[in-house]
Amino acid sequence: TAESPLIIAIDGPSGSGKSSVSKAVASRLGVGYLDTGAMYRALTWWCLDQGVDLADEAAVVAAAQTLPLELSTDPDDQRVGVGGSDVTVDIRTTEISSQVSRVATNTGVRPILQQAQRDRMAAIATATGGVVAEGRDITTVVAPDALVRILLTASEEARLRRRSAEVHGTADEEAMAATRDQVLRRDRDDSSVSQFTVAADGVVTVDTSDLGFDESVEAVLAVVASRVGMA
Ligand code: DC
Repeated sequence: TAESPLIIAIDGPSGSGKSSVSKAVASRLGVGYLDTGAMYRALTWWCLDQGVDLADEAAVVAAAQTLPLELSTDPDDQRVGVGGSDVTVDIRTTEISSQVSRVATNTGVRPILQQAQRDRMAAIATATGGVVAEGRDITTVVAPDALVRILLTASEEARLRRRSAEVHGTADEEAMAATRDQVLRRDRDDSSVSQFTVAADGVVTVDTSDLGFDESVEAVLAVVASRVGMA
């Protein structure tokens, strides 16, 4: 029906433009936003802050069960808090980026965060009429029944170019070389989490390699419009 909440699941590798595109889509549609990667990052920050050894799988699972997480749902004002500390910036450091896959590959942690993500998606959708949730396993595991499921991809070249411009403020050859190792390692670490580079059945692939930011947002909105028309 017209009243059923607009649940939009977006997966993709880093550098596909997933986060910025997802936020813009949520903003345009006037619905809330959930960055599930921020939850894995916040848990990693919390473990390191509490002196939890990331190799101690049971201790990390226990931390996941009690993580005092506060996440804003406004796509235009993303704030991440843990236990009263604002960690919005701290969860994006290279230290967290290099450690987070150890937490994300912990098989006891994933079902806890996945269920927390389902609960948050439901609450956001109730409050705002919909939700855009992005990550690596949203279209497949967290919300396989979402009305709209999209895999955002981009060629390795395009992803390196964007990541380099983001980190170094330029995409010249030297900056790209410096970024290459880091991006390829992150891809390899993440690929053990889920096969997020291959679209599952019923998931629409949007390749942003040759699209600018605004064009990527329009491409996703077009998929949303076609799915809403069908529903
Ligand atoms: O998208 P990101 O870089 O913020 O993700 C951080 C880490 O969390 C990355 O290693 C992939 C992992 N992740 C995951 O395993 N499942 C998700 N739904 C989202 C992120």
